[in-house]
Amino acid sequence: VKEKLSGLDLNAKPVAFVAGGAGFVGSNLVRRLLAEGWNVFVADNFSLGSADLLDSVSANNSLEIVEADLSLRTSALECFSQCARVFGDIDDVWHLAANSDIPAGVTDPNVDLKDTFMTTFALLEACKAWDVKNFHFASSSAVYGQWDGEAGLSETLGPLRPISNYGAMKLASEAQISAACEAFLSRVNIFRFPNVIGTPATHGVIYDFVKRLLDQPTILQVLGNGTQQKSYLHVSELVDAMLFISQHDSPSGGYPQILNIGNDDDGVSVKFIAEQVVKEIAPLAEIRYGSESKGWIGDIPRFSYNTDRLKAIGWRPKLTSKASVERAVFEIASQLK
Ligand SMILES: NC(=O)c1ccc[n+]([C@@H]2O[C@H](COP(=O)([O-])OP(=O)(O)OC[C@H]3O[C@@H](n4cnc5c(N)ncnc54)[C@H](O)[C@@H]3O)[C@@H](O)[C@H]2O)c1
Repeated sequence: VKEKLSGLDLNAKPVAFVAGGAGFVGSNLVRRLLAEGWNVFVADNFSLGSADLLDSVSANNSLEIVEADLSLRTSALECFSQCARVFGDIDDVWHLAANSDIPAGVTDPNVDLKDTFMTTFALLEACKAWDVKNFHFASSSAVYGQWDGEAGLSETLGPLRPISNYGAMKLASEAQISAACEAFLSRVNIFRFPNVIGTPATHGVIYDFVKRLLDQPTILQVLGNGTQQKSYLHVSELVDAMLFISQHDSPSGGYPQILNIGNDDDGVSVKFIAEQVVKEIAPLAEIRYGSESKGWIGDIPRFSYNTDRLKAIGWRPKLTSKASVERAVFEIASQLK
């Protein structure tokens, strides 16, 4: 800490607190924030993430990483206090800590209550205590639930009918953040992410397929019948959008800004993803599909986004869902080979 406090211009830099910064998306965000001149304080319990994902920047004096369970109010408060000692007052909180394993939350809803909702609750308490005004939240398309309508899912029309505990606790988090916006926060962004892909992958459909094929190169067993059709976004573009939005937003006036981030194309099928992974890893492998139209309980078999709000702010992705998948398959295969 002393070494950091004696640093030359640390006080001149803005301070970001990244909850869940040792995860897949978080580690990408942390690298970008550092590159853009922020002091970054990462708090993570390493349940799903790992400090190893930040190895390439761990020597950076503007980065501090601590292990903490942010579902506990005392622990969140202690992290804010530690951050203040190392870097000074927090300017922006980026809340990405959550249980990202949806089936685990279906088996035991306590997982989502604790890691997805209580982390939000505790971080908001800490923001109130430390008078932090700017809050950015990683929400999810899972808040919408199943939707068979023609139009893409929109922030204003919903529907808001989650079909997983994960989605339910994300929606409950959004509600809690909304109340905090009225009471004490001033700049608030709720980002509803689609399926995000890229490296360093720790979970997700491409990661699973690559791992399975590396273990057993002759057969790829797919959960579901392969027709699930979803929109995908590359993590580099997601981080780009989050930073762009945070740089172009304004005081929320008592309401959070809620934004779908993603592609508004029709997405790609699981069958397409399976074929791409087979082509990359084991071209002779047989793909075996299940019979269900969804992969697991809580899986949303089909969704597409309305991104008019995002476009109105001036951001749109450069890669389609298909191009994002092709790029991520190559990257994840290189990561795991
Ligand atoms: N990756 C996606 O496709 C996707 C889609 C929609 C929403 N999201 C959301 O984006 C965020 C980041 O997702 P990700 O894919 O990087 O997942 P991830 O699992 O890699 O990252 C989540 C991080 O939160 C940490 N964490 C969990 N519980 C914690 C706790 N109690 N205290 C402190 N840290 C805790 C984990 O260790 C992990 O490092 C999550 O909130 C996730 O719900 C991700």
